[in-house]
Amino acid sequence: MMRNKQKRFAENRERPNIFEPEKPGYEEIKGNWHDKYFENDNHITLELACGKGEYTTGLARHYPERNFIGVDIKGDRIWWGSKDAIDENLSNVAFLRTQIQLLEKFFVDGEVHDIWITFPDPRPKKRDIKRRLTSPRFLDMYKKVMQKEGWVYFKTDNPGLFDYTLEVLSDRDDIKNLCITRDLYHSEYIDEHHGIKTRFEKMFYEKGFSIKYLKFQWN
Ligand SMILES: C[S@@+](CC[C@H](N)C(=O)[O-])C[C@H]1O[C@@H](n2cnc3c(N)ncnc32)[C@H](O)[C@@H]1O
Repeated sequence: MMRNKQKRFAENRERPNIFEPEKPGYEEIKGNWHDKYFENDNHITLELACGKGEYTTGLARHYPERNFIGVDIKGDRIWWGSKDAIDENLSNVAFLRTQIQLLEKFFVDGEVHDIWITFPDPRPKKRDIKRRLTSPRFLDMYKKVMQKEGWVYFKTDNPGLFDYTLEVLSDRDDIKNLCITRDLYHSEYIDEHHGIKTRFEKMFYEKGFSIKYLKFQWN
């Protein structure tokens, strides 16, 4: 198991679609994703907490005229999405290995168009509230790196995290067009699912959890 992980880490170091510490480009990519990596001006969508990157690659197949970057701290997970993208010649895909807290180190203001947050860790303990990916300081950061007309999309199986997120959003006066469903698969938003189930989505859906979904724009 350990050897597999080490092998993946070594392969990640050679993969042109992975940006991670100590690789060329990692420190210089901020503000340069369009020119230096994608070589086009197409919109950039981030998948935060991407894990194996099912949404990153899945959306990239649906939308070849857009760019997608999966962000996660775990190299052995992004290895999978990176491999799929290379095998399928998806040139509109990249992966960034970093703590999401450091997003502003990698994107200038307005460099990102949309953000998907897919099944982030619920972090139920009170002392971990600040680490939830929909807590106010994270939302402030997303707003900064995003274009104003972009959308933030959020999917979770976890009712506690979903309610918490709704509470955080209701305290803000800088969002608009909030759409909500507690049962995505039986809702009017099902087309936005694109038939892409992430690993955690599958796991929790099979355990009987409904998929909660919301999206909004900045004012
Ligand atoms: C529950 S998994 C979900 C993975 C994937 N989105 C899915 O639905 O299968 C949460 C992921 O978030 C990543 N993660 C959690 N906190 C993070 C942070 N602060 N920065 C970067 N990645 C983080 C973990 O490494 C993990 O892969």
